[in-house]
Amino acid sequence: MTHILAIETSCDETACAVLENGRALVSSVVASQMDVHARYGGVFPEVASRQHVLSITPVVEEALRKAGVTINQVDAIVVTRGPGLAGSLVVGLNAAKGIALGAGKPLVGVNHLEGHIYAAWLHDASELNPPPAPQFPLMALLVSGGHTELNLMTDHLSYKRLGATLDDAAGEAFDKVARLMGLPYPGGPSIQKIAVEGNPTAFAFPRAWLDESYNFSFSGLKTAVLREVRRFEAEKQPIPVADMAASFQTAVIDVLFSKTMQAARQYGVQEIIIGGGVSANKALRETFLAQNEFKVHIPPLKYCTDNAAMIASAGYYRYTLGHTSAWDIDIQPTWPLS
Ligand code: KG4
Ligand code: ZN
Repeated sequence: MTHILAIETSCDETACAVLENGRALVSSVVASQMDVHARYGGVFPEVASRQHVLSITPVVEEALRKAGVTINQVDAIVVTRGPGLAGSLVVGLNAAKGIALGAGKPLVGVNHLEGHIYAAWLHDASELNPPPAPQFPLMALLVSGGHTELNLMTDHLSYKRLGATLDDAAGEAFDKVARLMGLPYPGGPSIQKIAVEGNPTAFAFPRAWLDESYNFSFSGLKTAVLREVRRFEAEKQPIPVADMAASFQTAVIDVLFSKTMQAARQYGVQEIIIGGGVSANKALRETFLAQNEFKVHIPPLKYCTDNAAMIASAGYYRYTLGHTSAWDIDIQPTWPLS
């Protein structure tokens, strides 16, 4: 039995998890700072680092206690090195180094984006019939606050990037558009909530197909929403927020879905995995699950947004394949997956 203890502090969640044999999650603790940052309308980096300093020790202790595992029973300490906010990453990396050195355990640095992808492998340890693990080759759509990309995976830890966003990430577009419409941070859940009451065809917002490429672009869509908001303001008319949110959400999903399906067909895969905060979006999940051409793995909601369980899973595969880290590893605030 291999136990992994993982720490994640790349943005505004202080998280720690204990994982058994790469997939079975025995504990996952996430201390969210969302309420602290909501008043600033986004993540305030210095405040985030200081919150991590306050939360990291209790969060690690709670994860171990909930797992019923002592640090001596853990095989490796896994930690997010990047990408993310420098001041936040430093807190997690130094905590992980301290724990690993103190307990005499190996340290494994992991890419946060790889974590989002490996969320598709997780299941609760209590599940009697865990879902089968994703099978290679597979198409991985990564949609987080900072990244939007399509990767072909032919094996564990192997990524061929087929395309990525040329401007805003999908989650970033949700956050910026929500702000334009006066909806609270984080924008994704706010837009999803109000979109339920709206008509997704009320506004014909543009889709950037970027023909012959698997790249994405969401800034034109964002500008189109801004133009409509300004038009209603100039005419002193109330902004039809629900219709606008529903039309925007549909435009984003249309592009993500079509490009992922096209890539999956072109590369002959049978399975698709989706990870990152935007994979929590209900309409996006329903769109992918409504087709039956490919088997789709989307993590349970709690493992879509930032958490340490996904870092533990990615770290398990790194650890078992011999990718341990040196003691002098640094954070990597910018770190492409491939
Ligand atoms: O993966 P994540 O938690 O953090 C990053 O690594 O960036 O993603 C956060 C992003 C935010 O932009 C947030 O608005 C978006 O995920 N998000 C959603 C939903 N929940 C979170 N976007 C659309 N619908 C949601 N339900
Ligand atoms: Zn993330």
